[in-house]
Amino acid sequence: MKRYYIETFGCQMNVHDSEKMAGILKSEGYMKTDSVQNADVVIFNTCSIRQKAEQKFFSELGRIKSLKKRRPDLKIAVAGCIAQQEGRGILERAPYVDYVVGPQNINVLKDIITSQSDFVFTDDNPLISETELPIERKDNVRAWINIMYGCNNFCSYCIVPYTRGREESRASGSIINEIKELTDRGYKEITLLGQNVNSYMSDTNFPGLLKKINEIDGINRIRFVTSHPKDLSDELIHALKDMEKVCEHMHLPLQSGSTKVLKLMNRKYTYEDYTKKVEKLRKIIPEISITSDIIAGFPQETDEDHKETVKALTEIEFDGIFAFKFSPRQGTTAYNMDGRLPDKVKSERLYEIFEVQNIITERKNKELKGTIQEILIEGKGEKDTGRFTGRTRTNKIVNIPSEDNAEPGDTITVKITRAGRHSLEGDIL
Ligand code: 5AD
Ligand code: SF4
Repeated sequence: MKRYYIETFGCQMNVHDSEKMAGILKSEGYMKTDSVQNADVVIFNTCSIRQKAEQKFFSELGRIKSLKKRRPDLKIAVAGCIAQQEGRGILERAPYVDYVVGPQNINVLKDIITSQSDFVFTDDNPLISETELPIERKDNVRAWINIMYGCNNFCSYCIVPYTRGREESRASGSIINEIKELTDRGYKEITLLGQNVNSYMSDTNFPGLLKKINEIDGINRIRFVTSHPKDLSDELIHALKDMEKVCEHMHLPLQSGSTKVLKLMNRKYTYEDYTKKVEKLRKIIPEISITSDIIAGFPQETDEDHKETVKALTEIEFDGIFAFKFSPRQGTTAYNMDGRLPDKVKSERLYEIFEVQNIITERKNKELKGTIQEILIEGKGEKDTGRFTGRTRTNKIVNIPSEDNAEPGDTITVKITRAGRHSLEGDIL
């Protein structure tokens, strides 16, 4: 029996792509292994969104060179966004790599894994949304589902439109079939994946798709990532309110509180546009939690601009954020912008952003103390802590003592007893 080892870097899209690669390998008769030493095929599914992720991969790749020397029959594939960007360059830099497979070409894995020569697959694949691949899912309760691929937005800092190509939406029928199969297998929660789900458009638009999914029996919870503020329509907000399975959470990346910087980022909304949408969301769905992404130290960002971002955090009060230092990515327009900032300035700004947000996150979690919440149990707490973990509909992690009689996949009602910055605790009612 041959074995595969997959190491995944980066976003949920990559995590799900890895599930597809695992699915292909399994259907070719390979078995999963958690040790590189035992593997016949090693796949690195890479991320190039920031330099740090890229460096991490290249150091991992360097480490496997000696293994390949000892075992020349070991197949090494580099997949994901760095594969797409570097193409043949990877083989020049690391001649011991066998295959380079961009994120639009996962389907070739099936054919190349048995061949002997070096191969690079980085062509655009306009048929990606019609390609159905076997999927070896990591989880039994929650499932990722691609509804669209690629991105047309070209935010000036972002490499994604170059690595994942133009937007291609999957037909709703194929999405629905996939979800129905999952419900038959007992899945309870699905997360619809796309770089910009709000611009989904096939035989229906995104609110229309949600309505169709909301009607499927067996699914308890529907989530989706990521939403672009410019495409967040009133139709969607009302649809969210009316559909009982769609969870009250939206990840809505703001990126900066300065309209000047937003323009430089090519985000196509002002700070005021953004806050109006948040107000509307909260007015119509008062319990909604909103999370966001922030970039610190974009080129030409002044102290004033940064202060506007900090002020935005205090005004909007996100439930949580991901924040990053700006990382110049070759090929993007921001790469060539004047006014790059020293790392020290970026670090200081990032630090302040976290400092301000951490207090808000903790306070918002504490507000939930004493409330009654619906929790979907996902599994045991880490390292056998004797607890279950699950999430609220608003996507907050809750730990629950496990002497209570419950199983992963169960939906239970709990009373929140304690709240910290990272998680909540609750007792089953
Ligand atoms: N530098 C820093 N952060 C970035 N992101 C995307 N590209 C960059 C970059 N070059 C962040 C954005 C995006 C999230 C997924 O990653 O905030 O929303
Ligand atoms: Fe990147 Fe902007 Fe597309 Fe998101 S919407 S993937 S940040 S280009």
